[in-house]
Amino acid sequence: PVHRPLAGRRALVTSGPTHEPIDPVRYIANRSSGKQGHAIAAALARLGASVTLVTGPTREPDPPGCTVHPVETAREMLAACEAALPADVAVCAAAVADWRVADAAERKLKKEGGGPPSLVLVENPDILATLSQPGARRPALVIGFAAETGDVLAYATAKRARKGCDWIVANDVSPGTGTFGGSENTVHLIRADGAESWPTMGKDAVAARLAEAIAGHFA
Ligand code: C5P
Repeated sequence: PVHRPLAGRRALVTSGPTHEPIDPVRYIANRSSGKQGHAIAAALARLGASVTLVTGPTREPDPPGCTVHPVETAREMLAACEAALPADVAVCAAAVADWRVADAAERKLKKEGGGPPSLVLVENPDILATLSQPGARRPALVIGFAAETGDVLAYATAKRARKGCDWIVANDVSPGTGTFGGSENTVHLIRADGAESWPTMGKDAVAARLAEAIAGHFA
């Protein structure tokens, strides 16, 4: 028997890093691989959801059965997310750059003359907080991630309130845990009624278990 509890549901997933241009050839980025976000998109599709994956630049293959919108910047990611609404559930797994260069140069910055340029940074939109804002288009279930070093539960619980999302998937990325860059993850699922700590498992297994929890929420 095929297990498709999310059939008829629409899911939006963000994944990967963003690239914020400095000039036409240079950018600010981070080391997000997109592995966890892509695995979540695939797991939701396997349970029957209609999945839109909005992803920054990654080396991950497109997850089977998902509509994929590749973007580069945080502002493009937000626009693509808003265009993908309505959705029943949004999972924000992307590592969005907190800042972008205020006025990216239209021509390549030159080394000759003037010395090194100063980069003025401005804040990027917070996609998770924006999607969590109350309103007709808010997904019924909005899920964010929190990578913390130490006091994981306290910081993640505070983040859940600050962002206005429903659930937070929190993990301890302290040096020595092996989480960062590794294939395994130890996470805590924080909901309104408390936290649940999951055993250490692969990122695909975290995705599968999160997708089942989402299906349980809508059951
Ligand atoms: O504030 P912090 O970056 O620690 O929060 C992490 C969560 O917020 C993740 O779910 C991430 O996808 C989301 N986020 C976002 N847009 C931003 C920054 C973070 O959606 N600009």
